[in-house]
Amino acid sequence: MAQLVSELEIPYLDVVGLQRQEAIEAIEAARAVHWLARNELGYTVTRLADVTAVLRDQRFHSGLSIIEQSPELQGSSPGGERRESILTMEGAGHARLRRLVAPAFTPASANRLRPTMQAVVGELVDRVVERGACELVADVCEPYPIPIICELLGAPPEDWKLFSAWATDIFRIFNNNLAEDLPLIERADQELTAYMNDMIAERRADPRDDLLSDLIAVEEAGDRLSTDEMTMLAQAVLMAGTDTTRNQLACSVALFTEHPDQWALLAERPELAPRAVEESMRYLGAVRGTARFASEDIVYRDVLFPRGTLVVTSLAGANRDPEAFEEPDVFDITRERGSAQMTFGAGIHFCMGAALARAELQEALPLLARRMPDLARNGDIEWKPSSFGIWGPARLPLRFTAAA
Ligand code: HEM
Repeated sequence: MAQLVSELEIPYLDVVGLQRQEAIEAIEAARAVHWLARNELGYTVTRLADVTAVLRDQRFHSGLSIIEQSPELQGSSPGGERRESILTMEGAGHARLRRLVAPAFTPASANRLRPTMQAVVGELVDRVVERGACELVADVCEPYPIPIICELLGAPPEDWKLFSAWATDIFRIFNNNLAEDLPLIERADQELTAYMNDMIAERRADPRDDLLSDLIAVEEAGDRLSTDEMTMLAQAVLMAGTDTTRNQLACSVALFTEHPDQWALLAERPELAPRAVEESMRYLGAVRGTARFASEDIVYRDVLFPRGTLVVTSLAGANRDPEAFEEPDVFDITRERGSAQMTFGAGIHFCMGAALARAELQEALPLLARRMPDLARNGDIEWKPSSFGIWGPARLPLRFTAAA
């Protein structure tokens, strides 16, 4: 007979507001006692095996849909109901979309964008390198991903600023201030939708080498993506692909300031870039966790999670699980063995842009290591408040030896 989750004697784990090291220690302390912990809104799993199992269990649905169901958003669109995002869809509808868009998100498609990535990050570094100092978040991390996403979609450079402003406004959905922010969110959503609809019409008439043309080609091969679905996907890519990449780059570089030997090694051996990306995402991932809720009564490991129970999957916890990684607290960019890092999630919602994000980081990190040798902090790093969402440095002041 399964035991009701609320009756378990388990540790309490609340990482919100904790400093980086304190949060890791709190997770480790809870994980040492039990595979499950209680939090303010529900429960948290911290071991890699449980995090993977919950994310792969399709009876657990995306926690993000709770935001989408908020009463403010429900009444807000002209049609009364908002377009559902791929991030919150489940079941057959979700599987169909992933199947249709998969060819556009392979490592080979990401590789097509590597020259753009090199040009964009190279130019951002050129602007600061002679100074021998910069604030990496504002100077490099913030501006880096938008041009890549625009290039992916096929939007011209003169429109990059528009996309940046739309992304900022649509992100207000996570600011806990919906009543005030809603008009801005709605306007950005409408402008982006109109822009995308025009671009889709143009690509139908005149296909090019970009994501939208690929998605239209899919549409012509039997099963079809509607214009609405393509617009939703473009929006999901803009939303899910910008702040994540920015924060991950800043997290990774912040981590290297604590490990100058590894930074020098990466400069010397740029072929280590793929491993450096995986290891820095494992050690200090920008997405600390994600959430699921039980769509029905679920028994997992002999514990009953009643319908509606919220379960946080701690990606940060899974990434330091000693059962999955040898010496999990050692940062080593030559690490070969062990499980795959978890910062891209798992299961049906596994990051669709993982190949693109990997390529962006694999291009940026060795270039920075080569052009910013002797990297050191130039003041304190200001970290965003610790949470289960996207996280990283708000300010990352650096100094280095200017290199050509
Ligand atoms: C380092 C950067 C990135 C990180 C750490 C990251 C992380 C994640 C995680 C953890 C999820 C799963 C969320 C969940 O299960 O609740 C996810 C989903 C997603 N990501 Fe990423 N992501 C990154 C970059 C990108 C990029 C560049 C793109 C776009 C090209 C992208 C597009 C998406 C999409 C569309 C989903 C939803 C997939 C679905 O629900 O089926 N991500 N990402």
